[in-house]
Amino acid sequence: MTGTRITIDNVTKRYDRVEVIPGLSAQFEAGEFTVILGPSGCGKSTLLNMLAGLEEVTSGRLLFGAREVQNVPAKDRGCAMVFQNYALYPHMSVADNIGYSLKLAKVRKAERVERIAAVARIAGLEGYLDRRPSQLSGGQRQRVAIARAIVREPGVLLFDEPLSNLDAKLRNDMRIELSNLHKRIGATSVFVTHDQVEAMTLADRILILNEGQIEQFATPGEIYHRPRTTFVAEFIGAPAMNLLKARGEGGNLCLASGTPMTTVAHEGEVLAGVRPERIELSDAGLKAQVLYREDLGSHHILLVQLDSGEQMRLSTSQGGANADSSEVFLHIPPDAVHLFDPETQQRIN
Ligand SMILES: Nc1ncnc2c1ncn2[C@@H]1O[C@H](COP(=O)(O)OP(=O)(O)OP(=O)(O)O)[C@@H](O)[C@H]1O
Ligand SMILES: [Mg+2]
Repeated sequence: MTGTRITIDNVTKRYDRVEVIPGLSAQFEAGEFTVILGPSGCGKSTLLNMLAGLEEVTSGRLLFGAREVQNVPAKDRGCAMVFQNYALYPHMSVADNIGYSLKLAKVRKAERVERIAAVARIAGLEGYLDRRPSQLSGGQRQRVAIARAIVREPGVLLFDEPLSNLDAKLRNDMRIELSNLHKRIGATSVFVTHDQVEAMTLADRILILNEGQIEQFATPGEIYHRPRTTFVAEFIGAPAMNLLKARGEGGNLCLASGTPMTTVAHEGEVLAGVRPERIELSDAGLKAQVLYREDLGSHHILLVQLDSGEQMRLSTSQGGANADSSEVFLHIPPDAVHLFDPETQQRIN
């Protein structure tokens, strides 16, 4: 199976008067795993459904390889979709569920059996072909849904929150399985989720969508280390990045109160972003009161308030300096600071 390159060329989507996608362009490379991430209602499913042919585009072009597909019926696009509710046929065996679309396409019995066996091997379902869906675990059912989607060898594989019905442990296992499956299948995959861990771990590139527009489309590493906007900065990372009003002045980055926070080359007003995991507890530095402490076993999350009034969250490994006291001193390394323009909310440094 080989992947198909996907081109989204200035696509818009409007329901009556509501413009859900105001004009979006992006390209997903052949074989690439793209995760679309964004808050509820931002248009993730709408975009995926337009790729699948389940929703019409209002304007613009969609290309699979060199072929324009926006007016091609879903079944002729060479793509397959896996949904959150995988809806297997309960009265059919696993083999028949997987092979159903081949039967509809009038593929001969002998070939069907062969292709079902091949995808069952890929999906790790060899021992389960005679079972009914009710005799499978949630993860195995999800694998049947994926096997069913890939049996026709689509060049494009679309997933809409396929793991969100599974419990936490199974989700973790399925993430790894999906990642391995993707490598074996080779289809260009587009995966919608609002789970940032899924996005960070599965994606070659993450497309962050906000009100139907691309905030950033980049590798997980770039998204985490160099968020392009305050929206991305706050959306990725848990707890979320701290964002403080600050000012660069003669080499110091000062809080609104005038307190120097760290050093910086920039001059003038900024929004300074610092990830909770980059703030260090030390013996001297910025004094802060601990307002709230969450013990998560492996680490603590502290909500602290500086003498000048600003609040921040920081995440610290258990037993760090001053871990239990109500007053702490913070050290913020200069390279931990992300600078954003307070007007445009765009990254500066
Ligand atoms: N058939 C429709 N008619 C009118 N508005 C719609 C229709 N379908 C979706 N919308 C609106 O379009 C916007 C985007 O919806 P969409 O389902 O794409 O969001 P989403 O990002 O998938 O959200 P979620 O994470 O909750 O699944 C929402 O504001 C939604 O209310
Ligand atoms: Mg959705």
